[in-house]
Amino acid sequence: MTTVLGSSSAGTAGSAASGDLLRRRALTLGTHSPLFYDSPLAVRSASGVWLTSMDGVTYLDGYNNVPHVGHCHPYVVEAVHQQAKELNIHTRYLNDRVLDYAEQLLATFDQPLARLFLTNSGSEANELALRIARQHTGSTGVLVTDFSYHGNTTSLAELTTALPVREPLGAHVRALTVPDLDHENDAEEAVLARSLAQVDAAIASLQEEGHGLSALLFDPLFSTEGLPRLPRGYVTAVVERVRAAGGLVVADEVQSGFGRVGTCMWGHQIFEMVPDFVTLGKPMGNGHPMGGVITTAELLDEFGSNNLYFNTFAGNPVSAAAGLAVLKVMKAEQLADNAQSTGQLLRDNLAELADRHDFLGAAKGAGLFTGLEFVDAATGAPAPALAKQVVEAMLGRQVLISRIGRSDNMLKIRPPLPFTGKHVDILTDRLADCLAQL
Ligand SMILES: Cc1ncc(COP(=O)(O)O)c(C=O)c1O
Repeated sequence: MTTVLGSSSAGTAGSAASGDLLRRRALTLGTHSPLFYDSPLAVRSASGVWLTSMDGVTYLDGYNNVPHVGHCHPYVVEAVHQQAKELNIHTRYLNDRVLDYAEQLLATFDQPLARLFLTNSGSEANELALRIARQHTGSTGVLVTDFSYHGNTTSLAELTTALPVREPLGAHVRALTVPDLDHENDAEEAVLARSLAQVDAAIASLQEEGHGLSALLFDPLFSTEGLPRLPRGYVTAVVERVRAAGGLVVADEVQSGFGRVGTCMWGHQIFEMVPDFVTLGKPMGNGHPMGGVITTAELLDEFGSNNLYFNTFAGNPVSAAAGLAVLKVMKAEQLADNAQSTGQLLRDNLAELADRHDFLGAAKGAGLFTGLEFVDAATGAPAPALAKQVVEAMLGRQVLISRIGRSDNMLKIRPPLPFTGKHVDILTDRLADCLAQL
């Protein structure tokens, strides 16, 4: 039996179903594979922006960005099903499906971004982009931001600044402190000048130590840092400095891509610049594992003439059918426009809540990627425990959200794109209720 939202007071927390799954999981996947919530949620099915638990409770999904056009979207499911019945094979044979996809995807980028490598994940995409940049520049130095995550390979672990990894930051890596005007006392120009001086120093130190500069790798939303409010001109000025030092620019759009930011299809377009690489992942196949690197014809040709790059699963026609279906649904349902208007509505509602509670900071973000900060009302210090309490309390009210930020003190609201005003109302009403009870 399915219980509609609001009519049940508890999820699967502590249920027999989740207890048994936890036990089996520990005995197979081990106990280190991360799970959300104090009492993890066991899910059975999903549709649109709704998830249903093993014990039949329906949850509003305010968190998941992989089911980009909505969980189990019927058009995507049917496209995958039809293609799986017809043909699934690697790219060493000619097939039109992957080319249809490549043409339609590339048409969404600005020139000179005109070529595509397909991969199976965001990690693979970043790994490949950095490998091409290294070969092109003959340098190894990489600039990343100070609380970022770009994937799970060895070379990406060496430049991970946000998650715990055993690998130390590589000697060839420098982490830039991303400025956030919501947390600065200085004037915007002063913050910008200080941040750019740090970039200059980082590049100089890479050069002095003989690494040179191969690439800047950044998430245009700076989502793990907590969606900072940047000084105007920050990103373009960093990019200019990287290029002047001979480095290439990689925009990691695993989080910010495919219309998530609302105003444009790709996060980097907010800054009116064109990177040398755009890396893709999560939302690309609506849950079907897909990733990619978009680059220029010159960079692809140079790399291709020195390396045989083959990827067994990437670019198979079933994946291509999933990717094509995502693009088609996005257009038909005007999901980028929806991300813009619904995201703004959400932030307006959150700003009203922030006026009522002095432990709430700014509502931040772009499109349908929103953060809401929790602070200690007396000291203004980050309040991660409060944010965690609210995430857990929202689970009890059948709404899924999470946390981000350097101090893990921001609510992370990043739903599938078919999230509408009706869903925003449910989420904000329930959040208001939680906050009133803190
Ligand atoms: C910004 C960013 N880049 C890359 C990745 C890695 O993608 P994947 O898990 O598909 O390898 C992630 C995953 O969380 C991500 O958030």
